Amino acid sequence: MRILMICLGNICRSPMAEYVLRHLVREAGLEREIVVDSAATSRYQIGCTPHHGTRRVLAEHGIPCGKHRARQLTRRDYDCYDLIIGMDEENRWDILNILGDDPAGKVHSLLDWSARPRPIADPWYTGDFETTYADVLEGCETLLRHVS
Ligand code: 4NP
Repeated sequence: MRILMICLGNICRSPMAEYVLRHLVREAGLEREIVVDSAATSRYQIGCTPHHGTRRVLAEHGIPCGKHRARQLTRRDYDCYDLIIGMDEENRWDILNILGDDPAGKVHSLLDWSARPRPIADPWYTGDFETTYADVLEGCETLLRHVS
């Protein structure tokens, strides 16, 4: 199972979701079954490392942050991943715009499996990385229950 987390810039929410889900996967002993990566819909931050707010909130919760560099989603990613997970409705439109189509129904939003599906606010604009972390954690936990 290969999962690709997506957000606008690939420096705040999607790398946070990548590292939170990797952590949960490791704790569940599923590293050999589930691979997690992340990418952007935009080109704004290509090549950049995760935002210091994302790095800080991950560190505060004891979650290792790797050396991810932002990259943009491509059409070729569609064949490489089983699930392509956006953070909000704008991400969803942009993902479908890049991919052109979703014949296998791979495109979802991170909180789709939550009891309260909702968009994940962008801390690039809100400055509130802690609220984003709580939403990302809920999304990753419910997603992992769904796939495992
Ligand atoms: P993200 O946040 O989509 O959660 O990574 C953003 C990061 C950068 C920008 C926008 C959103 N930007 O405009 O550069």
